[in-house]
Amino acid sequence: MKSLSILLTAALFCLKVSKGSETPQQVFMGNSTTSASNCFPALDFPVPKAPGRPPAQWWCSPSDTNGFLGFTYETDGCQSASTLLADFTRMRNDYKARYVRLYGWCDDQGTYLNNVIQAAYSAGLGVYFTIWFGFDGGNAWIRRRDLIIGIVRKNPFAPYVVRSIDVGSEPLYDWALQPPQAVADQIKFVRSQVGPFGIQVSISEMQYGYSVQGPSQMVLDAEDVVHAHELAFFDKDAKTGADAGPSLISSTKWFVSKTNNTRKIIFTQTGWPTNTKVWKGNSPKAVASLESTKAFAKLLDDSCETFKGITPLGGVGWFWHIWSDSMLEGWGVLDQSGKPKWTFAPRTSC
Ligand SMILES: *[C@@H]1O[C@H](CO)[C@@H](O)[C@H](O)[C@H]1NC(C)=O
Ligand SMILES: *[C@@H]1O[C@H](CO)[C@@H](O)[C@H](O)[C@H]1NC(C)=O
Repeated sequence: MKSLSILLTAALFCLKVSKGSETPQQVFMGNSTTSASNCFPALDFPVPKAPGRPPAQWWCSPSDTNGFLGFTYETDGCQSASTLLADFTRMRNDYKARYVRLYGWCDDQGTYLNNVIQAAYSAGLGVYFTIWFGFDGGNAWIRRRDLIIGIVRKNPFAPYVVRSIDVGSEPLYDWALQPPQAVADQIKFVRSQVGPFGIQVSISEMQYGYSVQGPSQMVLDAEDVVHAHELAFFDKDAKTGADAGPSLISSTKWFVSKTNNTRKIIFTQTGWPTNTKVWKGNSPKAVASLESTKAFAKLLDDSCETFKGITPLGGVGWFWHIWSDSMLEGWGVLDQSGKPKWTFAPRTSC
């Protein structure tokens, strides 16, 4: 059933492409390999005008993926199609991003998310979608969930761009859905809708989130992949970014053990602030400064081999939280005017 749907999707897609195009398309149906570079979104993969192969033969394998993946990108600003393309292209060209993770919500009928898919494909980025709950309860998330599912079904590029869908960013910690079984049930429901397109489903959550509502193992069990928040700045004993190693290792090991060493571990939110204008730390010794931020970025780079040694499936991939200070003051790689705060040149493999 699963492979049938994928084939069907691919076939429909080819039909659509060949109908709509004037020039002959390169079609790789049937027999392509996914070696480290002949796959999306490898840094040296020349993205064709149309995918021309089934999604199962399109994506780079998680086992070949580690190091810096890309940035979290806040979507409340409903950026225009041209801004999306400019930002995504800059992420790829200047920082070697391979993915972009959406955070927040642009409340329209789907134009924005379709523009994201188009811009990401053009820039060569995969996308991590987030079903956004917001912070004030309500049922808007159901409409958002169904909008995303509808886009995955209707937009022929979606299975080639959308790598994963998170049922919320910290939904356990925020009590967005209660009890934890309800979160697990939603993961399963969304997967029943998008799994046939090869899209992974999880939640984006910190270790602590899995204890606030009581036992939440069923949520971890339901996830295709672990999407962990590693914000060591908020630890009770936080000092500088350079000192955060033990915190990252301990939390990573916790996720590995709770998923029996069987799930890929991605840090969907990690970073360190250069100031405390939005949030103070929970430790009086936590240092928010450019030096501390740079040290944390270096720690992530230096830990690549260590992470690879303690996690399954090729090690940890991580997203820097966040793209720009205009999205979250203090946490961006770019300042409020869009200039880099430091030379951020993270490692993309180890
Ligand atoms: C697919 O690749 C395999 C291994 O390289 C090769 O043996 C086979 O003939 C190919 N099949 C087609 C249809 O090209
Ligand atoms: C891990 O193993 C425990 C004990 O057998 C089991 O209850 C749990 O469902 C497993 N979880 C995963 C993600 O494999």
